Amino acid sequence: MSKPRILVARAIFPDIVDRLREHFDVEANPDDVIWTPAELAARLADKDGVLTTGSQRIDAALLAAAPRLKICANMAVGYNNFDVDAMTAAGVQGTNTPDVLTETTADFGFALLMATARRMAESEHFLRAGQWTKWSYDMFAGSDIHGSTLGIIGMGRIGQGIAKRGAHGFGMKVIYHNRSRLSTALEAECKATYVGKDELLRTADHVMLVVPYTAASHHTIGAAELGLMKPTATLINIARGGIVDDAALAVALRERRIAAAGLDVFEGEPSVHPDLLTVPNVVLTPHIASATVPTRRAMANLAADNLIAFFGGRGPLTPVNQPQAGLLR
Ligand code: DGY
Repeated sequence: MSKPRILVARAIFPDIVDRLREHFDVEANPDDVIWTPAELAARLADKDGVLTTGSQRIDAALLAAAPRLKICANMAVGYNNFDVDAMTAAGVQGTNTPDVLTETTADFGFALLMATARRMAESEHFLRAGQWTKWSYDMFAGSDIHGSTLGIIGMGRIGQGIAKRGAHGFGMKVIYHNRSRLSTALEAECKATYVGKDELLRTADHVMLVVPYTAASHHTIGAAELGLMKPTATLINIARGGIVDDAALAVALRERRIAAAGLDVFEGEPSVHPDLLTVPNVVLTPHIASATVPTRRAMANLAADNLIAFFGGRGPLTPVNQPQAGLLR
């Protein structure tokens, strides 16, 4: 019997591609070419499954051009690149990679918070540029992490990981806002108090964004929300580009309406709003919150395991939708 045909849409660990070859007829992309939607659709025309990395858009038009496609396994916990309704309607399974990246991403959120509040990038540029000729009492004086108030918007697994680091490790007062409130037991574990969004923005010394990107979360932080924040506050976005209005943020940073921001994700990435590149009080990283070797391997392996389990008849391990059994392609 012929093996199912799989496309691995971006370069991933070669040994994990080899593992997929034990089960599937695999077309890989070792040169990591960024295909246009039309090029991706052409490659998917004869494929039964695809391993995506979060930057390939799977929508109704692509599904129509890929009549054999049965499963899209995203190597990411976020899956805003999937039109889930279109996939479900077409009987196509979607999967993501939750849990395996939670602690690594929470570590990074904290690293970015600390780098931002303590002005590490700005001061390193100053030093490298040979501008450090004397010590002074207020040189790169930032804001404290310990004992301050951390406001987390989006309290899923990663948000909870950040809350625990802040509350237990740094003695922070943690407040959060989320679509739904956590159970009393989880709130106690995270030492976190539920508040409204405006109260969080007005009260927090540091605001951390960890919400999934949806139409409803688009521009969760825009000019009005930035206007509510303390002038001494920092804003950290490790969620998705589009959660923050980057143009409005650049204005707020330039005019010092807030003290600083740390951004790992951007609207229209890998492009970055040009004004963010010229303001000094922002730390910019290229979407690397989950980027440790063990975690990226675990993500790739989980995406591969989803494909193997699905075609092995055992069902997807970490589904993001539930196409009706009768509708599955
Ligand atoms: C995720 O897993 O969603 C990360 O942002 C990596 O894409």
